[in-house]
Amino acid sequence: MPRIAASQRSLYTECLEVSGTNFLSGEIHINGAKNSALALMAASLLTDDTIFLENVPDLTDIKVMSKLLNYIGISTQQNSHTFQLNAKQIANKELPSSLVNALRASFFCIGPLLARLGEVRIPLPGGCKIGHRPIDEHIRGLKALGAFVSINDGTVIAKLPPSEKTLKGTCIKFNCQSVGATETTLMAATLAEGRTILENAAQEPEIQDLAKMLNSMGAKVKGAGTKTIIIDGVTKLNGCHHKVIPDRIEAGTFLIAAAITRSTLTIKPVTPEHLEAVIQKLRDCGCEIEVNNDNLTIIPKLITAVDITTEPYPGFPTDLQAPFMALMATAKGNSIIKETIFERRMQHVGELQKMGALIDLQGNTAFIKGVSKLVGKSISAGDLRSSAALVLASLSAKGKSNIQGVNYLDRGYEKMENKLNNVGANIIRAHRKIDSFASKSYKNKSHFLNESFSEKEKEVA
Ligand code: UD1
Repeated sequence: MPRIAASQRSLYTECLEVSGTNFLSGEIHINGAKNSALALMAASLLTDDTIFLENVPDLTDIKVMSKLLNYIGISTQQNSHTFQLNAKQIANKELPSSLVNALRASFFCIGPLLARLGEVRIPLPGGCKIGHRPIDEHIRGLKALGAFVSINDGTVIAKLPPSEKTLKGTCIKFNCQSVGATETTLMAATLAEGRTILENAAQEPEIQDLAKMLNSMGAKVKGAGTKTIIIDGVTKLNGCHHKVIPDRIEAGTFLIAAAITRSTLTIKPVTPEHLEAVIQKLRDCGCEIEVNNDNLTIIPKLITAVDITTEPYPGFPTDLQAPFMALMATAKGNSIIKETIFERRMQHVGELQKMGALIDLQGNTAFIKGVSKLVGKSISAGDLRSSAALVLASLSAKGKSNIQGVNYLDRGYEKMENKLNNVGANIIRAHRKIDSFASKSYKNKSHFLNESFSEKEKEVA
């Protein structure tokens, strides 16, 4: 990559140049799950013993979390994908807004810090690219466990009542299935006095992974992976060794990369049952998928349109909605994709349209009419999963694409371009002048909608 003088750096941005239409072939390695690793790192705050975490992905989100833990006083030692974390000396009960704003998952430290120290101050997580993302369920969970929680000048202050030494077990029924709120409350409840029952808990595999590590630390957690989690509080947790589960979202992204390039790929290691909804949709749209222990081989045939609606696990994950939309933009026929988890997770639509996709967006529902080929363009990602969708769209497109917003990709995909280049893609990381990118805009292309979708289909959506 050419060196750029310091005075010129603000004029340039990192981008990926993708030359499209290469067939891919071979095997892609899947790293540990980002969303698991972030919660597990937060859980290290629950003990003054050392936690050894294996299979931690090398991502900017992990670096930010590590920085935040260091700020609090946790020592972190990293050796490739292994972390040693020790929270013997917690120096700060107050987290800085710069780091909490950079990473929403840092807010998940509120539960363990409260349980361990009896008091914590965390700035409200900032505005998010994919929507409002409230924290009311986190706060409800902690209040139910007996904490006083107030919000003062943009900072959430959670503390034990002066008369209490620990949180108190209770029954909490969440109003919605939230991964973060389940994790926050689960971690806090491990050190509470008595039994806590979480109802309407999120069931994601990352929560099962967290419960597994907490149990290795000496916690008593049952039912993780179902809607009811039972936690019998203990007075102390120990250190442990734990291996992070494979990242099902990274794996799903590469399965879709195979489908969109009509290429046969093997993805490993994975936990196939974590990907059931995704595998089913890929089979429905025309891919053969062979499941062998910890690996999946995908053999795409004619890709035809299928509809998806995002749902909490075990439904189709919101984190793969954008990549799947890129695939449907090149499928035979019409599909409807409905986003139900986050209100602003359609930022890829305008960029896919620039590449020739026929998509009409109505609220959080996208009506897509597949085209035979997308065309490479200068495009810009606005969040993590939309950046992955644009890489996949560019792999299948005719000509060259320049993708801006690579910083988002690096938050959740370790060396994505290297992994794809190793199986035959042609992607170069480069610096380009910022003004060479067209501005983002979503164009309403409803002119094709009426002729392509029946009134019934539009109503059903
Ligand atoms: C986690 C994942 C993210 C994934 C999301 C949904 C991490 C670090 N991130 O985010 O990649 O897209 O789950 O699978 O694990 N909600 C409330 N009140 C709350 C909390 C959430 O109403 O207090 C709502 C949200 O607005 C959203 C839904 O619950 O509509 C699910 O959000 P949640 O599961 O909490 O997402 P995160 O944990 O932030």
